[in-house]
Amino acid sequence: MVEVVDHDIIIVGSGIAGLRAAIEIKRQDPSIDVAVISKVQLMRSHSVSAEGGTAAVLYTEEGDNIVSHAWDTIKGSDFLADQDVVWMFVKYAPSEIRQLERWGMPWSRRPDGRIAQRPFGGHAFPRACYAADKTGFYEMQTLYGRLLGFDNWTRYDEYYVTSIVIEDNSFRGVTAIDMSSGEMVFFRAYAGIIATGGAGRLYKFTTYAYTATGDGLAMAMRAGIPLKDMEFVQFHPTGLVPSGILITEGARGEGGHLLNAKGERFMSRYAPKAMELAPRDVVSRAIMTEIKEGRGLKEEYTGLEYVLLDLRHLGEEKITQRLPAVREVSIKHAGIDPVEEPIPIRPAAHYTMGGIHTNKYYQVLSTENKWVKGLWAAGEVAAASIHGANRLGSNSTTECLVSGMIAGHQAAQYVQKLKKEGAQLETPREEIESEEKRVYDKLLKTETSNVSVYDIREEIRTVMDRYVYVFRDEEGLKTALRKLREIRSLVEKSYPEDKSRVYNTDLIMSLEAANMADVAYVVTQSALNRTESRGAHYRIDYPRRDDENWLKHTLAILTREGEVQFSYIPVTITTWKPIERKY
Ligand code: FUM
Repeated sequence: MVEVVDHDIIIVGSGIAGLRAAIEIKRQDPSIDVAVISKVQLMRSHSVSAEGGTAAVLYTEEGDNIVSHAWDTIKGSDFLADQDVVWMFVKYAPSEIRQLERWGMPWSRRPDGRIAQRPFGGHAFPRACYAADKTGFYEMQTLYGRLLGFDNWTRYDEYYVTSIVIEDNSFRGVTAIDMSSGEMVFFRAYAGIIATGGAGRLYKFTTYAYTATGDGLAMAMRAGIPLKDMEFVQFHPTGLVPSGILITEGARGEGGHLLNAKGERFMSRYAPKAMELAPRDVVSRAIMTEIKEGRGLKEEYTGLEYVLLDLRHLGEEKITQRLPAVREVSIKHAGIDPVEEPIPIRPAAHYTMGGIHTNKYYQVLSTENKWVKGLWAAGEVAAASIHGANRLGSNSTTECLVSGMIAGHQAAQYVQKLKKEGAQLETPREEIESEEKRVYDKLLKTETSNVSVYDIREEIRTVMDRYVYVFRDEEGLKTALRKLREIRSLVEKSYPEDKSRVYNTDLIMSLEAANMADVAYVVTQSALNRTESRGAHYRIDYPRRDDENWLKHTLAILTREGEVQFSYIPVTITTWKPIERKY
C-alpha cells in the first residue's frame, strides 16, 4: 500500500529555481505548507556547479538597459524566443540580483564596492554578476540560508520522483520512491512546481552532473504534457578534455583566447567582431570546424580532438582571483596549470533549451494548450521560451531565479484561493497503482533478459555524442533514431541486478535509463524533423535558417503506445522581426 503524504505545494527539484520558488511561497504566505523533494541531498543539486555568472542590467547610467538585454537574448536565440517572455525576464532580472544581495550573496565587487559584472558571449554589455567562478554554489548557499529562516516546510532528500499525477486536467501530486526504504510514497498537494533541470547526461561529453538524466522531462511526457523545442541542445564551447568538466565562459569574459594547433586565434574567421565572445552556438561550430579541417589536437588516451583556451596572458593574480575553480579543475583533472599552459577544450553538452511546454507565467500547458491546473515548471526544465534555439551564457541562472519567483508567487495565490473555497486533496488510486506496477515490476525481471541497464545508458550516450552533436545530418539522425528505437525496446527488458529495496541504486539507474531513452528519442526525432539550421541545431544538409517554414516551436507528445507525435505552434514576435545574425 502506497503511503500518502500531504502538503499544500510540492516542489520537485532543489536547485536555484526550486529554492527560489519555495522562498517566494513562504514570503507570500508563511502558513502554506511546502515540500521540497530531491533525488539527491538538497544542496547537491546541479545548480551548485553554475560558474561564470547571472545576467541582469544593473548600471543604466553606464549605458546598459533592458532593451539591449532583450535584443541580445532574442538575437542570441536565433529569433525562436517568445519575445513577450523575454521582456518579462529582463524586467525582473535586476531585482533578483539585488534581492540575492540583501539575502547575503557574496557577489564579487568593483573597487567602489558595488556588484561587479563581467562580459559574456552575445551580450553587448558586461552583464554577468558573479562570485569568482563559483556563482551557482554561492547562490545555492544564499537561497538555502534564506529558506532556513522560514518554518513549515519539509525537505525530502533522496526521494526519487517517478510520476506526475494529473486527473481532470488538474495536478494531484507526485509518486516518489523513498530511496532509504525503497517504498513508494504519494505526495498529495494542491499545487506542484517541477524544477528538475535539464538532460545533459544523455551525452557522454558533458558539463552536467551525473544526476541530470531528464527525469522531469520524461515524467511530464508520460503524464501527457508536451515537450517544446527539444532539438535545441546547447554545447558549451569549453568542456575540459578529457572529462567534460565546465571551464567557464567567464574565462573568455576575462580575456581568454581560443587557439588552434597552429596557434591562431581562429575566431577571427567566424566572428570577427565578437571573437571569443560570440554566442556559444557560433563558437562551438567554429571549434568543431577547426577540428574537422585538421587544425585541432588529439588527446593521447581517449582520442578526443580539441583546441586550446589560453589564459596565460591574464597573469597568475587575475587567474587566481577571478577564476580559482578553472585553475583548480585544470590542475586536478587535466594536469595543466593555466598560468603556465593553455587548457585543452572542446564543446560539451551543457544546456537543454527545450523543455516542458509552459506559457509566460510558467504554467504547464496541456496538448490542448490549456493550463494543467495547479502545475508550474521553473528553471531549465521549463520552456517558456526565453532561450529559443540558443541560450546566451549567464541567462540561465537568471531564468532560474525569475521563473522560480513567478511560479512560487502564483502557486501561493492559487493555493490560498483553493483553501478558502474549502477544496479537498484528491487521490487518484488507479494512476498510483499503475505507477507502482511500472516501477516495481522492474525488480521482478531477471538476468534472463540479458540486458544490463549500464550498457543501455552507455549506448544512449554513445549514440547522442556521435550523431546528435554540434553538426547533424539526415543520415546520422536516422541512424541515431533506429538505434534509440532498439534501445527503448531493450529498456523494457532491462533488469536491475540488485533486487533489494533499501538504497537500490540499480533500480533508480534503470528508471533513469528509461527516462533518458525517451528524452533522447524526442531530441533526435525533433532534430530530424527540423530541416533547417537555427541556433544550436545545425544541419549540414540544411545549412540555412528557413523562417518561411520553420519560424515555429516544436511540440512533442508521447502517445499511450510510446510513439511520439509532433505539432508546431507560432513564435510570439512582439518587437523585432528576424534578421540575419552576425557577430
Ligand atoms: O560558462 C559558464 O560559466 C556557464 C554559464 C551559463 O551556462 O550560463
